[in-house]
Amino acid sequence: MRLLSQLLAKNRAWAAETTSHDPEFFSRLARLQTPKYLWIGCSDSRVPANQIVGMAPGEMFVHRNVANLVVHTDLNCLSVIQYAVEALRVEHIIVCGHYGCGGVLAALRDSKLGLIDNWLRNVQSVRSKHRSQIESLATEGERHARMCELNVIEQVINVCQSTVVRNSWAQGQSISVHGWIYGLSDGLLRDLGMGVTAETEIDAYYELAFARVEAEGRSTLEPARA
Ligand code: CO
Repeated sequence: MRLLSQLLAKNRAWAAETTSHDPEFFSRLARLQTPKYLWIGCSDSRVPANQIVGMAPGEMFVHRNVANLVVHTDLNCLSVIQYAVEALRVEHIIVCGHYGCGGVLAALRDSKLGLIDNWLRNVQSVRSKHRSQIESLATEGERHARMCELNVIEQVINVCQSTVVRNSWAQGQSISVHGWIYGLSDGLLRDLGMGVTAETEIDAYYELAFARVEAEGRSTLEPARA
């Protein structure tokens, strides 16, 4: 048997440290979670959801998958959204992508990696949809970064168009859906300017975010990973 004793030791130290600052911390959290935020991000180890926004356990409900995708047939992601919206009644849903995303790069390059190619087909749909804009960029680094941005915008739209979010808006629940992108090289989040709060706003915010990404040229911020 192999034990990951280092990690278990770190866990004991973390729990002790947390309790020393707030003796009731764990007993309070064990009774109830009341997060205001749902985070949908990439599985990438360099983009830990809670840590980069300085949030403690209990403050954010999290779903992560390769390339932060929201696919209408993915029961896993849809169930997370449903539970977050209907049971936890989160107020904000954040789709967070990141520059240098390996999943997005694989989709851009048409890499053959096996099973995951099927999942990354969803990113290739984003590429097809925005082909002329992507192909107008000179370098692969720029195309990669732009793809990371466009992918976030498209996934925000997918969240907004999900039955769960549309139904909750129709019932008057207050939920806003945001699109952010994280820079691996500076640790900073950039808001892609979505912030959708109603079904009627979807098209306008989509156009706005799309135009902004094209105009501001943020896509040079992070070179493609080799
Ligand atoms: Co990624």
